[in-house]
Amino acid sequence: MNIRPYTDQDLAEVVALFTDSVHQIASRSYTPEQLVIWAPPAPDLEQWRARLSDVETLVAESGGVIAGFLSFTSNGHIEFLFTAPTFSRQGVASLLYQAAMQRLTASGVETLTTDASLEALPFFESRGLKVSKEQTVERNGVKFRRFAMTGPSKSSNHHRSA
Ligand SMILES: CC(C)(COP(=O)(O)OP(=O)(O)OC[C@H]1O[C@@H](n2cnc3c(N)ncnc32)[C@H](O)[C@@H]1OP(=O)(O)O)[C@@H](O)C(=O)NCCC(=O)NCCS
Repeated sequence: MNIRPYTDQDLAEVVALFTDSVHQIASRSYTPEQLVIWAPPAPDLEQWRARLSDVETLVAESGGVIAGFLSFTSNGHIEFLFTAPTFSRQGVASLLYQAAMQRLTASGVETLTTDASLEALPFFESRGLKVSKEQTVERNGVKFRRFAMTGPSKSSNHHRSA
């Protein structure tokens, strides 16, 4: 598993991974109506290009296939963290997280924040983040539960490899 910076050529693969991850992994915690709003079956690639241009993104690659990606802002907010369903629970998110933490701590960021989905909550808890606020956000008239989380940016004591 190789961690490298995202490039514009990864756009379609990353967006497809996001869509699969939401529909196949997050589907355990969200309704079909919520899933279609979160990850429309026909994603708007230009909207994604703009979203990704505002953040730093790392991809995990295995045998030329993208297995996961993580996006973060320079002040330590994790914007996206998604693993492809076929690579689930194999340490992909852990590797991406560790690589992002290295970059953030190197640039002096000490505190991390994220807005975690129900599916991502256990992962972030396993990295030492704590829920600061439970939130309900509304998109297209549909409500979503999520968790504002915060914690130290140094790598947690939970290590594993993919
Ligand atoms: C959350 C997510 C990124 C985790 O990715 P992953 O590559 O499977 O995570 P890892 O294999 O690195 O997991 C590391 C540890 O996190 C914890 N963890 C991860 N997923 C978990 C789950 N569903 N339930 C309980 N613990 C979990 C475990 O402690 C795990 O270690 P273990 O497998 O040795 O028990 C992935 O499940 C995903 O893409 N979910 C759907 C999309 C989503 O909701 N993304 C986040 C938006 S905020």
